[in-house]
Amino acid sequence: MYMRILVTGIAGYIGSHTALELLNAGHEVVGFDNLCNSSEESVRRVRALAGRPLRFERLDLLDAAGLALLVKEGFDAVVHFAGLKAVGESVEKPDLYRRNNVDGSANLLAAMRAAGCRRLVFSSSCTVYGEVKKNPVDESHPRSAVNPYGRTKLDVEDLCFDLAKREKGWDIALLRYFNPVGAHDSGRIGEDPKGLPNNLMPFVMQTAVGRREKVRVWGNDYPTPDGTGVRDYIHVVDLALGHLAALEKLPSFGGARAINLGTGRGYSVLEVVKAASKAVGRAIPYEIQPRRPGDSAAIWGDVALARETLGWSAARDMDRMCADHWRWQKNNPTGYAS
Ligand code: UD1
Repeated sequence: MYMRILVTGIAGYIGSHTALELLNAGHEVVGFDNLCNSSEESVRRVRALAGRPLRFERLDLLDAAGLALLVKEGFDAVVHFAGLKAVGESVEKPDLYRRNNVDGSANLLAAMRAAGCRRLVFSSSCTVYGEVKKNPVDESHPRSAVNPYGRTKLDVEDLCFDLAKREKGWDIALLRYFNPVGAHDSGRIGEDPKGLPNNLMPFVMQTAVGRREKVRVWGNDYPTPDGTGVRDYIHVVDLALGHLAALEKLPSFGGARAINLGTGRGYSVLEVVKAASKAVGRAIPYEIQPRRPGDSAAIWGDVALARETLGWSAARDMDRMCADHWRWQKNNPTGYAS
């Protein structure tokens, strides 16, 4: 079934990879981004990789009038990635995060409502589970916010749940991602964090390419097999294909549903450094440091619901995540500025 899809935050890491898979599946894609934390070069590369037209607009979710005008053009569904995502920055600037992520999403929902478009895929996060009680964590686990960034994900989920309850006709997938890593296997698009990376894999790969001296391992005294933090890393192309599966299944949703997107398997920080070293072909230096405040010991997802409702599961393993991430990093040592 052919769809005309609007992608918000298309120039970002997950947005660009998803746009490519949507184009490859034959759908029409229109995307926008305010480029506050991304580069239009990613969109140019997606266009070239797909070999198909891809319209891009520079637009901000907070420009309600511009947004309404665009959405009114008519779309079968919207995939909503646009938002700020740095946990540390959110602690310093909670109002900025609320305005961009929550008010921005409310603008999008209002524009969709006015245009009669009621199919949405939203990028939520496993951060909504807060401090997890038991792994693997499933979608019924109680939600809580552990930082202002996490609060915005929870609030946007609630906007969607409330809207779908109040009004018939909405089909909404709230996709709770675990830890996205990797890159498209062309090595042409990938993650391009500005400044010092907060997340593990970009830091590891920037160390491998010589931009950082060594990986700082935040704590080796957690109650995990090797003492370092355990996470459910998922290849960004698998994640992108999860969005495609969700879009195809949306018509049967009849309301808003939250679904985990992960592999269902956890890797420790040291296991990631080891797998990355194998992909790179030499040992990546690291050093044990004190715990990072706010980090939890371990979280990985129960991914049965995604398999049952979307017919989707992750196919790419940790070696593949590292090999693909490394190809991108090696070919583009300074990201899209390379
Ligand atoms: C973080 C955010 C989460 C967000 C996700 C995706 C926090 C507390 N959580 O998840 O809300 O949805 O990113 O952007 O920031 N690590 C190191 N050294 C590093 C970086 C990380 O040892 O330089 C460790 C961490 O302690 C953790 C693991 O690697 O055990 C993964 O960390 P990271 O990539 O930052 O992701 P999360 O903390 O899981």
